[in-house]
Amino acid sequence: MGNKEISSLFSLKGKTIVLTGASGVLGNAIACGLAQLGARLAIMHLRTELSREILKRLDDAQGEYEVYRCDVLDKEALEACKNKILTRFGSIDILINGAGGNHPQSTTSASQSFFDIPADAFDWVMKLNLNGSVIPSQVFGKYFADQGKGNILNISSMNAFRPLTRIPAYSAAKAAVSNFTQWLAVHIAQEYSQKIRVNAIAPGFFLTNQNRFLLTDEKTGEPTERGKSIIDHTPLNRYGDPDDLLGAIIWLISDASAFVSGIVVPVDGGFSAYSGV
Ligand SMILES: NC(=O)c1ccc[n+]([C@@H]2O[C@H](COP(=O)([O-])OP(=O)(O)OC[C@H]3O[C@@H](n4cnc5c(N)ncnc54)[C@H](O)[C@@H]3O)[C@@H](O)[C@H]2O)c1
Repeated sequence: MGNKEISSLFSLKGKTIVLTGASGVLGNAIACGLAQLGARLAIMHLRTELSREILKRLDDAQGEYEVYRCDVLDKEALEACKNKILTRFGSIDILINGAGGNHPQSTTSASQSFFDIPADAFDWVMKLNLNGSVIPSQVFGKYFADQGKGNILNISSMNAFRPLTRIPAYSAAKAAVSNFTQWLAVHIAQEYSQKIRVNAIAPGFFLTNQNRFLLTDEKTGEPTERGKSIIDHTPLNRYGDPDDLLGAIIWLISDASAFVSGIVVPVDGGFSAYSGV
């Protein structure tokens, strides 16, 4: 491979990337990072607007972007959004399924046993994480199948390898996301094109809206016992910074990983490698 090809292995310049869940803490960091690489971003969010700070960072970056409001569980809305993106950018290269999260009511606590978790709270978490990756993969994956190339990146979690205490729905949902990542990687390559790859990252612990109530005391802001235990079990001895995800994401969605499909990459400060002893 020549010097020129090596230097462009990680290039995303001019690639159109669809990112769901972009108004979340991790989604913000992913959008701003990819914009700096000259990618063209279709940024999807649900209710929360992108903050002024994030819009400014996107404006300051080299890439083009457009913001779309779209529910990842609504196939018709996703189809309409895909058409708008194609009108705006002409083509789509990459889908990042960033929408996801946990729900306090699907979490066990002193006041809520596993036996009392409401079925609709459990369903909400399963649907958002699993269906919220499956449905966009149907809509944009079909487009990739028709054009014979594309790239899908899902966001799994540490819970997918071994479930964490207290969050049964989120653990099951992310295990399903990892499983679906492998399934779709095989299916789409065998049935449609070997130029379509599907992978996932499994972030370790990042302090965000979905877990703040579990990791920090709401009143004092001090770490909870769970928060302390996570840091104790993370050999790199800290929470992740959202920007820590960027290297693995850029690798998985660029040509640098051209022979990689169906894997789930932990970005966890060593958490999943540590037995605790
Ligand atoms: N925070 C962590 O430590 C951590 C660890 C592992 C995995 N993750 C995963 O990373 C991803 C991003 O998490 P985050 O921490 O930034 O969460 P967050 O709660 O800050 O953001 C979640 C995003 O999903 C969007 N969303 C929710 N429901 C939606 C729907 N129906 N349609 C479209 N968008 C919807 C929200 O608007 C928001 O933009 C999620 O999949 C999460 O499960 C987070």
